[in-house]
Amino acid sequence: MPAGLAVRGLRKRFGQLVALDGVSVDFAPGEVHAVVGENGAGKSTLVSHLAGFLVPDEGEIAWDDSPLPLGDPLACRRMGISMVHQHFTLVDALTVLENVALASGLSGAVNRRALQGKIGELLRRYGWKLEPNALVGSLSVGQKQKLDILKALWQEGSVLILDEPTATLSEAEVEELFRLLRDLASRGMAVILIAHKLREVLAVADRITVLRSGRVIRTVHRSEADEHTLSKWMVGEVPPLESAQRPPEGEPRIVIRDLRVKGDDGRFRVQGVSLEVRPGEIAGVTGVDGNGQLELAEAVVGIRRPESGEVLIDGIPVGRHTEEIGYVPQDRHRHGLALSMTIGENLLIGLRSRGRFFRGPLLLVGRFHSHVQHLVDRFGIACRGPNQTVRDLSGGNQQKVVLARALDPFPRVLVAVDPTRGLDVRATMAVHNALLSAARGGAAVLLISGSREEVAALAHRASRISLGRLEPWENPSREDLVLC
Ligand SMILES: Nc1ncnc2c1ncn2[C@@H]1O[C@H](COP(=O)(O)OP(=O)(O)OP(=O)(O)O)[C@@H](O)[C@H]1O
Ligand SMILES: [Mg+2]
Repeated sequence: MPAGLAVRGLRKRFGQLVALDGVSVDFAPGEVHAVVGENGAGKSTLVSHLAGFLVPDEGEIAWDDSPLPLGDPLACRRMGISMVHQHFTLVDALTVLENVALASGLSGAVNRRALQGKIGELLRRYGWKLEPNALVGSLSVGQKQKLDILKALWQEGSVLILDEPTATLSEAEVEELFRLLRDLASRGMAVILIAHKLREVLAVADRITVLRSGRVIRTVHRSEADEHTLSKWMVGEVPPLESAQRPPEGEPRIVIRDLRVKGDDGRFRVQGVSLEVRPGEIAGVTGVDGNGQLELAEAVVGIRRPESGEVLIDGIPVGRHTEEIGYVPQDRHRHGLALSMTIGENLLIGLRSRGRFFRGPLLLVGRFHSHVQHLVDRFGIACRGPNQTVRDLSGGNQQKVVLARALDPFPRVLVAVDPTRGLDVRATMAVHNALLSAARGGAAVLLISGSREEVAALAHRASRISLGRLEPWENPSREDLVLC
């Protein structure tokens, strides 16, 4: 077998579901190797085996010709294999420094000053800004992502696996990260990267492996692929985006007036935002994460109290309207889902059409179950059935559960924050079409997204958010997207 990580005939089943079906692939030192595939294709399952988090049913993995200790994450780590997981592995109640200490296995009396020195050195090397004594709970998702990567880079090993690290980063941060990955590869590391945005993949990877339904469709050199061929290998032909409609007229449904909102750390995060959204309209807000997006969204849906200003829905303060608002929160694990509950239970919590499924206090189980099955089909949630726990779904399919709940039935007001984060090409298209049809069905949609392309493609009116203030983004054309 060649040097590096050699995977041969890997098979893994979860109950009836075959997640990996005879996967063979080589990850060589000195290369950035991207793994792509649609939601549920088996990407996370594959790399979890490489880092010792899963034991295969069949197959072998070798590192430089010696068998890898299967199912032993600590041993894998000692061999120099580190992994950045798809969802954060951070403790919110601890500081940046304490999280690093925890992850690097330091125990007993930790020399804080030495640790702080090393963190500072790494941050300088990567050009990242993170305050070692900041509480992790107060960080933006982009900062949390960097901290998770920092933890993996603590001991420079031989293999670095990153499972969708770019979903929460701005374009400039993604470029920075990619420079770092190229640098690590040039020093002999094997870098394995999972990402959904094919343009990103083509910009950084030396080789690309396409997975589909647990099988390797092919492994190609970057020069042998482009976005179109990759997405065809991943999902077949992609349905086109339905065209956006004319901007609607009429009375605004959402009126935001001079809103000022504090973040969890007590600082003002939204500083005087005014915005109106009409029924049928998609208002887009884009910007680098951590500029008040979260606080703005939470104030608009009525779960965070503003310090001053107001949010009116059809002329009435927002608090009384929660039944009519669909909300897709940015962090699906913290705010969107109860991970240990089933798909059906997650859909029942906060379902806006609950009344249809209850007689008095009693749930009409049969009727509700067929409704859940209908949502699973309509939103293409890949699962064993409505009784599967949400924790066991792939990341993208978890997001589809959040979307199904927010969009069924179409709400009067929809607030969606990064709704396609972590979704593959086909699922992204499906969400975009769902947002457009929600608007066509009369919803006032506030789309807050770090993806400028998404906002440019969907919004009738777009703004940029920076340090809690909005400024209009006139005619976001493709040239703008390239220039800024
Ligand atoms: N612990 C588990 N128990 C049951 N099924 C699981 C478990 N982990 C993963 N699966 C299933 O295995 C399949 C592959 O999941 P995996 O997480 O590897 O997909 P993925 O390619 O990483 O997708 P995504 O892009 O959405 O993150 C999915 O259908 C998922 O529901
Ligand atoms: Mg995954």
